[in-house]
Amino acid sequence: MSDPINGKVIVITGASSGLGEAAARHLSAQGASVVLGARRAERIEALATELAAGGGKALAVATDVTHSDQVKRLVDAAVERYGRIDVMINNAGLMPLSPLERLKLDDWNRMIDVNVKGVLYGIAAALPHMIRRKSGHIVNVASVAGHVVRPGGAVYSATKTAVRVISEGLRQEVKPHNIRTTVISPGAVASELPDSITENAIAADMQKFYEDVAIPADSFARAVAFALSQPQEVDVNEILYRPTRQLL
Ligand SMILES: NC(=O)c1ccc[n+]([C@@H]2O[C@H](COP(=O)([O-])OP(=O)(O)OC[C@H]3O[C@@H](n4cnc5c(N)ncnc54)[C@H](OP(=O)(O)O)[C@@H]3O)[C@@H](O)[C@H]2O)c1
Repeated sequence: MSDPINGKVIVITGASSGLGEAAARHLSAQGASVVLGARRAERIEALATELAAGGGKALAVATDVTHSDQVKRLVDAAVERYGRIDVMINNAGLMPLSPLERLKLDDWNRMIDVNVKGVLYGIAAALPHMIRRKSGHIVNVASVAGHVVRPGGAVYSATKTAVRVISEGLRQEVKPHNIRTTVISPGAVASELPDSITENAIAADMQKFYEDVAIPADSFARAVAFALSQPQEVDVNEILYRPTRQLL
């Protein structure tokens, strides 16, 4: 028997666009209660209103994942509204690629704060609830860039490699608590991600690359749904996927 998504309480960071938004729509359509976190409150509020109008259950909580107290507030809001948290999807992230010699320290710090610390804060917020109930599923979003590094991607790849390593450590540690862990590593998926690039030449190249090869964000939503809908005894630990056209 598969584990249905219907009725699950699912918290998603970075739900205001791209992969997070697509996952929220897909999981809501399958009957999950979705709790949406992102900084652009107007976007997640509009999405929650839209999902509720369609018969879904959705809550929006303005959240900056670089602040641990805000991520805790997001998860606590889910527990308060729906009684528990079944799934935490640590998805918020950004990708301001640049060669190291450009010394874009602000971009490095933002990537480390959002892509790494944001994931850790999500784990910190969700884990106590899940351990208490001896049940839960944590989904962390890494990237193909967590498997390969290319010029301009040193810091981004480092953050995504960190997400994979943290996820594997988490996987082993939460075995006694009956908690499942999945790390999803997508290739090029159409979203606002390339907009975070501040280096003009790389931004232009990446926009072109995404136009040429990127696949729709519902590919990510289906990957999440696959992991979540496995029977309790099945723990899908990593999903790595690319557009069929993408080489590296
Ligand atoms: N698209 C791809 O090709 C691809 C491939 C591999 C991995 N990924 C990963 O997928 C994840 C989602 O990215 P995406 O492609 O969907 O890009 P996106 O459309 O730019 O979405 C990024 C999301 O992260 C949120 N975010 C950024 N900084 C945040 C912060 N400080 N606090 C809370 N939320 C924050 C944004 O919301 P606000 O701006 O409203 O806060 C937005 O909802 C990222 O981790 C990315 O690295 C994407």
